[in-house]
Amino acid sequence: MCGIVGYTGFRQATEVLLTGLYNLEYRGYDSAGVSVFEDGVIQTVKTQGRIQKLADKLAAAPLHGNCGIAHTRWATHGVPSDVNAHPHCSEHVALLHNGIIENYLEIKEELLAKGYQFVSQTDTEVAAHLISSLYTGDPLEAIAKALERIEGSYAFAMVFQDHPNRVYGARKDSPLIAAVGQGENFILSDISATLKYTKDFYVLDDGDIVEISPETIRIFNHQLQPVSHPLNTAHWNVEQAQKGGYDHFMLKEIFEQPEAFVKTVARHILPDGLPSFVRDNIPEDLFQGCRRIQIVACGTAMYAGMVGKNLIERFARIPVSVDVASEYRYNNPIIDKGDLVIAISQSGETADTLAALRLAKQQGAKTLGIVNVFGSTIARESDHVIYTLAGPEIAVASTKALTVQMAMLYLLALCLGMENGQLDRERCRTLTAQLLDCQNHIQQALSLAEPISAIVPGIIDRESLFFIGRGLDYALALEGSLKLKELSYLHSEAYAAGELKHGPISLITDGMPVIALGTQQSVLPKTVSNMKEVKARGAKTLLICKKSAKVDTDAYDFRIDLPDCPDEFTPFAAIVAMQLLAYYKAVQSGCDVDKPRNLAKSVTVE
Ligand code: M6R
Repeated sequence: MCGIVGYTGFRQATEVLLTGLYNLEYRGYDSAGVSVFEDGVIQTVKTQGRIQKLADKLAAAPLHGNCGIAHTRWATHGVPSDVNAHPHCSEHVALLHNGIIENYLEIKEELLAKGYQFVSQTDTEVAAHLISSLYTGDPLEAIAKALERIEGSYAFAMVFQDHPNRVYGARKDSPLIAAVGQGENFILSDISATLKYTKDFYVLDDGDIVEISPETIRIFNHQLQPVSHPLNTAHWNVEQAQKGGYDHFMLKEIFEQPEAFVKTVARHILPDGLPSFVRDNIPEDLFQGCRRIQIVACGTAMYAGMVGKNLIERFARIPVSVDVASEYRYNNPIIDKGDLVIAISQSGETADTLAALRLAKQQGAKTLGIVNVFGSTIARESDHVIYTLAGPEIAVASTKALTVQMAMLYLLALCLGMENGQLDRERCRTLTAQLLDCQNHIQQALSLAEPISAIVPGIIDRESLFFIGRGLDYALALEGSLKLKELSYLHSEAYAAGELKHGPISLITDGMPVIALGTQQSVLPKTVSNMKEVKARGAKTLLICKKSAKVDTDAYDFRIDLPDCPDEFTPFAAIVAMQLLAYYKAVQSGCDVDKPRNLAKSVTVE
């Protein structure tokens, strides 16, 4: 949600800033802007629209200088427009922001009374004027004073007119890092912005203020006492963050799933064939005596949680609840000291998931993060963290991150099952081997790309459609539906197949598409009955099931055959099929696959 780049060094700042913005464009893409010191004066260029539009503006009227800040925006306050784009400028400072300033109205009134004039509808402009009003020559002091007043979440990057060659930053509840170069330094939302220049970075803590010059990075707490943080090195490389010959990041990431899966799973299998989290330094007692588990997450990560619930209850017989993080935090959840609360997040920065995690910690639960981005806030704030090894996921629609989250939850379910005596070692070993074998199912599902692309025009040809499934298939139906709607802007609903008769079936009209997940042999006959019920009312159906499933051909118009495997291991292939359906529908409809409208990859505001 909004991407931030700050640079000071020896290169042309606009080149570095634009490179960084393109790499962060997945965080938000409704407007963009830069402020650069040119001949010692801050010059600002901004525009509504994509970064390319900003690049075109800068190509027409280049800015020359070696220090500046840049922003790609996902609008919260004020429509996407030139004037609402960041940076916002005041007398002494140009400032950009990721987050929400909650008390901006109150501060604005005070500043208006002092004669400050506002040109935008944003909360951010308030911060620019506030800091300017408090400035008496020392940027750090002005920032620290302003932060005492500001409530809400923020990652700020700033340049001060009197301090060319320096960029300042501050954070609370929104991610910000300081990346380290040779004779150049950066302030960034995340390291993917500058992998081309450096992989080394410091993660700022809430309350930190940072000042960078070409040679130095100084970090202070909010009382302006110096603080030091460990230096991290990103394990991702530039190629991973590029399209590598694919038309879209999403397609590349779909095809990266076998590799991501094997990396993630293999790391957690010991030479004796049993699953283990010792390599993540997870203490054994985390799983011992675990009586209740709560999973909190948002969007796709929440659907991974639903799969996890099914598996943990199946293999370990431990009750699991799964909550949308934004609901959990406001629903006064019952959290017992011994509970294990698992926060699942690709980005590790999702505001609601982070807030749910903090609540659980406060109330004495043990917390475990399942996170993809190294050093992210959820990773750092969880008592324990297990990293999924998907590599950078750039497309806004989550694909490979889900696969590795599910893989991790399988491993967790098996460990818990072994720990509490539900699974003996031999059974656990067999299940672990079957899990590893899912890499082949994923590969086989990928080979269906062309046939799936060919099916799409026949089945997804209405503005509105249903996904249905039972058990594990229900969680996947929810995810398939989300993927389709976020990418293609179609109205799509997912239902537990048995629920259709309780209301939604009234929406079935002639030709309405219904996509049925039927990978669970144990409940397939029931799902097939539901398909026949909708067909009898005019629906057109697609069945996604195992190759060997024997289903009356009257029940479906189209069928996608997935590799045969035990019921509990079908989600990996099934999810690939649904990702491909959503991908090809979006491509065929001419939608912006990697950057769907109104969305952002990392949702760092509530
Ligand atoms: O980074 P997170 O996994 O915490 O993100 C959670 C959701 O915002 C994310 O999965 C979202 O639903 C995606 N757009 C789904 O494709």
